[in-house]
Amino acid sequence: MRSKLLSFPIWGSWILLMGLSSALLTNGNAHNFKRSENEWFMKEKKSTRQDKEGIINLPSPSYRGTVSVEESLLLRRSVRDYENRALTLQQVSQLLWAAYGVTKEISSPSFLRGGLKTAPSAGALYPLEIYLVAGDVEGLPAGIYKFIPAGHQLELIIEEDVRKSLARAAYNQTFVGKAPVALFYSAIYERTTRKYGERGRSRYVCMDLGHSAQNVYLQAVAMGLGTCAVGAFNNEMVSNVMMLPRKEEPLYIMPVGYPGEKARIEHR
Ligand SMILES: Cc1cc2nc3c(=O)[nH]c(=O)nc-3n(C[C@H](O)[C@H](O)[C@H](O)COP(=O)(O)O)c2cc1C
Repeated sequence: MRSKLLSFPIWGSWILLMGLSSALLTNGNAHNFKRSENEWFMKEKKSTRQDKEGIINLPSPSYRGTVSVEESLLLRRSVRDYENRALTLQQVSQLLWAAYGVTKEISSPSFLRGGLKTAPSAGALYPLEIYLVAGDVEGLPAGIYKFIPAGHQLELIIEEDVRKSLARAAYNQTFVGKAPVALFYSAIYERTTRKYGERGRSRYVCMDLGHSAQNVYLQAVAMGLGTCAVGAFNNEMVSNVMMLPRKEEPLYIMPVGYPGEKARIEHR
């Protein structure tokens, strides 16, 4: 669990490993996706619930769905009305995997944090951090959890339902507090600006965010769920509610739930 002042470990070996990483990313590995190899390591991951205190192993995501990418694109809308219905841990796992799950396991360099992911990232520097704001998930206490892509796990930050506080911090956009869960994005800009400077700050981090968030939109549609990217909020209030370490900047709140009646009528 995190205290308000806790800061995260520094990615000290970053510079040393840059040479290795460039070699890795230019030798064709990134383009040499072999489905069978990839499925192997995914299957190896067991869906047991908890080994270390505060760490929850998520169930493995599914790599086959019944809704095509084209249908998801066609049906995607921002949904701001949700049924009062819990999500399962399996659904949560799927959404987080779509957002930033590891699809090509690479253990080193460490800044890859598990390997290449579902969303592209400038220089494979992965500046985003994703949290689950759980309110109504079967078998999971309400709270803030950090998603750990390497290992496909959740780390409990605090066991408290913060959805209403988050909605208040988002200029009272009440729907934020009504969804059973929200995926919350922050970024450690430094990871990208160390290499790309101002271009990293003004462009790449938010481009990375857009890729990942769109994955969540499309995955939600494919599962019969709905989401809305929320960028309008008070940064300081949101950072407090989410207990973000100082170096993380809040970027998006994405509430997710089953579309409610109002959303179904609006989007007909
Ligand atoms: C950067 C960004 C910030 C957004 N912030 C909010 C927000 O704070 N509240 C909200 O209700 N919708 C927000 N939206 C959703 C847009 O309002 C929505 O995408 C737009 O109306 C188009 O509708 P559609 O997504 O259904 O196609 C945001 C979208 C983006 C891309």
